[in-house]
Amino acid sequence: MKSIVILISGRGSNMLALLEAKLPCKISAVISNRAEAAGLALAQAYNIPTAVVAHIDYPDRNSFDAELAKAIDNFKPDFVVLAGFMRILTENFVARYSGRLVNIHPSLLPAYGGLNTHARALHDGILIHGCTVHFVTPDLDHGPIIIQAAVPVMPDDTEQTLAARVLYEEHRIYPLAIRWLCNQKVALDKQGKVVFQSRRQVGHTLISPGLE
Ligand code: GRF
Repeated sequence: MKSIVILISGRGSNMLALLEAKLPCKISAVISNRAEAAGLALAQAYNIPTAVVAHIDYPDRNSFDAELAKAIDNFKPDFVVLAGFMRILTENFVARYSGRLVNIHPSLLPAYGGLNTHARALHDGILIHGCTVHFVTPDLDHGPIIIQAAVPVMPDDTEQTLAARVLYEEHRIYPLAIRWLCNQKVALDKQGKVVFQSRRQVGHTLISPGLE
């Protein structure tokens, strides 16, 4: 059975969705860069080993990432899953876990990489927004895409209502993506392309606003 280590920085709702999904893999550990991350207690309640590698204890990104890699490698995971992990990772770190490091981002990449995705989407008046699970490459928020979910943007949306609609979909697609990875239904090939063993499309076109 494959195993994963989940990295978090905060409340850990995506981590919780993974813990609750009965994935076909062992969740070997949850590691946070912030000791006060609320997700750590949630993980402990599921009897998952936790560890903290606090970025503030390290003088630079290289030394923090080296220590983080050590903490991860203790658990010998097949995949490293970023779930609201709010640190930019160095090229060395990303290369070490090439094809084994995935992230969830609250936008339809490549649109709205970086922070404040929902506020920026509302500001631009886009009508379809969403979330993306992707392999991590040194190019921040631009790695090869595994799965995306789209949601409509409503006229009365606030940053909070839009974030909640997107988060609901994050909690659906992240467990699905990790299930595929662990079942070897999806992988990153040597050319850096996402390859699906088999691919099925269910569901319908999303048109926003809806047709009359
Ligand atoms: C999520 O929206 C995730 O996409 C982004 O940060 C947020 C983390 O939320 N990277 P949580 O900690 O999983 O609840």
